[in-house]
Amino acid sequence: MSREIVRWDFNNMFEHALGRGKGLKPSDIDRLRKRGREIHGAIREMRRAGTTPFYRVIFEDSELAPIAALGAEIRERWENLVVLGVGGSALGAESLHLALNHPLHNWLPREERSGVRLFVADNIDPETFTSLLEYLEPSKTLFNVVSRSGETAETLAQFLIVRDRLERALGPGRGKEHFLLTTDAQAGPLRRVAEREGYPSVSIAGEMVGRYSVFSAVGLLPAAASGIDVRSLVAGARAMADRCDNPELWENPAYMSGALHYLSQRRKGKRIRVIMPYSDLLTGIGEWFCQLWAESLGKERDVRGKKALGAQCPVRALGITDQHSQLQLYMEGPDDKVVDFIRVQGFSKPAAIPRLYEGDEAVGYLGGRELSELLLAEERATEMALAKKGRMNSTIVLDSISPQTIGQILFMFEMETVFAAGLYRVNPFDQPGVEKGKRLTYGMMGRPGYRKEKQEVLAMQRKKKERFVL
Ligand code: PA5
Repeated sequence: MSREIVRWDFNNMFEHALGRGKGLKPSDIDRLRKRGREIHGAIREMRRAGTTPFYRVIFEDSELAPIAALGAEIRERWENLVVLGVGGSALGAESLHLALNHPLHNWLPREERSGVRLFVADNIDPETFTSLLEYLEPSKTLFNVVSRSGETAETLAQFLIVRDRLERALGPGRGKEHFLLTTDAQAGPLRRVAEREGYPSVSIAGEMVGRYSVFSAVGLLPAAASGIDVRSLVAGARAMADRCDNPELWENPAYMSGALHYLSQRRKGKRIRVIMPYSDLLTGIGEWFCQLWAESLGKERDVRGKKALGAQCPVRALGITDQHSQLQLYMEGPDDKVVDFIRVQGFSKPAAIPRLYEGDEAVGYLGGRELSELLLAEERATEMALAKKGRMNSTIVLDSISPQTIGQILFMFEMETVFAAGLYRVNPFDQPGVEKGKRLTYGMMGRPGYRKEKQEVLAMQRKKKERFVL
């Protein structure tokens, strides 16, 4: 059997590594196998019914080819690409950019860069947003407005600001070609703008949910424009999809991970799931995963309308930075966490440490080694230290950071989340809590049709008492 380029080491979730009573038993997994097979059947059924576009999209060359071609056109024509979007409409593009482009991509001269400079404006802090717009040369910049619903207030506000600035900078009617709207094929305000005013646009399938859209135009188009090899990325996702099309928990990394985290919460009280890559390049993936997991599984009601159990709360950490910070709590604080490490086995720039101060034992031992070796040693030491204390952890091992491995890991997380939703019996594709927040914002900002929400906000404000505000 060929060695996998992405592996998941689950040893430290089990009793044999952690000590009696501290970890799970293989029999715990065995008892969940029947349920696992049922969920696998349900996922297959959803795929057949076409309700899992995140799955379909990786197998559709007819989607990938035009995205790759449009990405190449953008690369040729523009200097800067700015993604305007939030949540699932931004985090996929951001995590691919951080993981697969040069760490200083946006600062490199054009000839040393693989593609456009890419900026993902996924927040509406007026300081950062205005500064970005002031910094970029309007005539050299394309704005990719991404919103599946086409009505998210933050994204629309960004669009209106940029539209106005471009009109003023370039002259009336000249701003249109600086936009590319990525939105629902038929519905929503952004689609209406595209149709009515002839803005260039790309369609998102109606059922595609933001946080699962990284392999659609939402994530892939900015990636392709910045020079990422999107075909290899999708090939990685396909390879993982094949590997995960297996009902057997012991052979399916996504299902196994979902099962272990579910059991660690139910049986061992681990309410928190820490995702801790040992690589700066993977920080975006940590953030992307937290959104995927939290927004998919954090539900009040299960699919039968009963009170839901609620999934583990995901937390981001970074090795080694958080070894000198959060780790103290993970080691000795409440034993209510599972730490998932991501280890990168091979770095493209290992960084040799020179042999200096050899006479000083406390310094000299580092000479002749590499920074990558030190990083790996620290990651392994942390795994072991946690295990020695009987604290659950697991490690995803990537041979290297490449489009292939990143495609695999992202898809694995998507499958894991959908599988875990089956265990928690919740719908992974809705987000009623987020929608509620959006509606209250509409009410506060005076959007017609949201009077009830406005009243709700005013009622909440009336409940506030001065003496509780210092
Ligand atoms: O995953 C999700 O559904 C959300 O995070 C959305 O992506 C986010 O709220 C933005 O929504 P939209 O793409 O409709 O603007």
